[in-house]
Amino acid sequence: MRWTSCSPIYCRVQQRVWHGTYRRYSTNLQDLEVNGVRYQRDEFTNVRPSILSHLSRNIYLQPNHPIAIVRSLIENHFGSSFTPITSLPPIVTPRQNFDELEFPADHPGRRPSDSYYLNKDWMLRTHTSAHEIQVFRSGIPKWLLSADVYRRDEIDRSHYPVFHQMEGARVVEPVDMRQLAQENKELERALGKVNIEVEDLSSTGEKNPYQPWHNKEHALLVNANLKHSLNGMIYALFGNLAAQRGGKPLQVRWIDAYFPWTGPSYEVEVLFDGKWLEILGCGVMQQAALARSSVPSDRVAWAFGLGLERIAMVLFQIPDIRLFWSQDPRFLQQFSAGQVTQFKPYSKYPNSSKDISFWLKDVEVHENDVYDIVREVAGELVEEVKEIDRFTHPSTGRSSRAYRIDYRSMERTLTNDEVNTLHSEIGSRLRDLFSVELR
Ligand code: PHE
Repeated sequence: MRWTSCSPIYCRVQQRVWHGTYRRYSTNLQDLEVNGVRYQRDEFTNVRPSILSHLSRNIYLQPNHPIAIVRSLIENHFGSSFTPITSLPPIVTPRQNFDELEFPADHPGRRPSDSYYLNKDWMLRTHTSAHEIQVFRSGIPKWLLSADVYRRDEIDRSHYPVFHQMEGARVVEPVDMRQLAQENKELERALGKVNIEVEDLSSTGEKNPYQPWHNKEHALLVNANLKHSLNGMIYALFGNLAAQRGGKPLQVRWIDAYFPWTGPSYEVEVLFDGKWLEILGCGVMQQAALARSSVPSDRVAWAFGLGLERIAMVLFQIPDIRLFWSQDPRFLQQFSAGQVTQFKPYSKYPNSSKDISFWLKDVEVHENDVYDIVREVAGELVEEVKEIDRFTHPSTGRSSRAYRIDYRSMERTLTNDEVNTLHSEIGSRLRDLFSVELR
């Protein structure tokens, strides 16, 4: 099973089903060294050089890069009272990424089939929420944190194992609640004047409860502030685009969600080209998580996390997520700081589609293992990988799998020889690492 959608958001992961054992395929026994720090390999180690090579790219900090442009748009919208945080390194502990946020011990996101581990004690953050507790602990009341995050996932035009998130939060003290009520009125008034239609399908209350230990009035105010603030941000991002596309109102909807460290929790979707696009996850911070940051118990806070690629793909009309990593001037020179412009495709080079199928021998192969091998061998020369067959022979019980790999460069035409070499290397690695029998 895969993520149900290219979810930059974590609640959906619960719907995923785990099957089989995970077989590590790191055969190199030397310790890993990243930025001068050594990490001893163990049975969790699954991060590969192709992934680690992204740690130093920092595309979200290059002012003329679409990811950085979206980041700045959001930072400017929230204004200078929100402190931007952009320099936290991606290697965190599973405690930061999961435990401090109350992820249950058996949450699928923890599995090495889903996340990248340097070893059992260190991993690549899978979301910017991994830093919430430490930032709240620093006492900053309003902040926006942007960073690269890493997840093992499928391969297609909207999935890449590295992407970017922005986390935002606000902590409110009891003395500021009256002012918050006033601010909420103003935000509501401002939203009433613009062309946005917000449908609230959430059922805050019984199914998506407020926290019993909160002062109800304060929780309601913070919850309302979360909704108004994010609706305002979404309008700032997408309002123009909606106006250009025939002047229909920008349609936004709020639905219930579940995150272990917020309550109530929501997901927000925007209607785009007839499809609802999941933009962010958010909620009122669970008091237990805030207490872990030594935030006094009378404060109430909200937090959200959004995927920057997804927003940038819509705003700039960028058709393939691999383009964000392009170093081709034909891509990079199209964008400049502060401006949202339509990407002009420079050309579409031909693709070459090849199938690979194999019998499993005693070892379960997780599809994310196949995707990682494909990434390792062919990198950004692969546009999409699809599982096209999964079969178990009724009498022998042998299982087979088949995948279709679409090779396409965004920068040049690939030669047949080149594609054949890549394809057979993928086969050899599957054979060496998982003992599969190629068909
Ligand atoms: N970290 C969550 C995700 O990646 C989003 C989120 C952030 C949800 C903050 C609630 C609060 O899916």
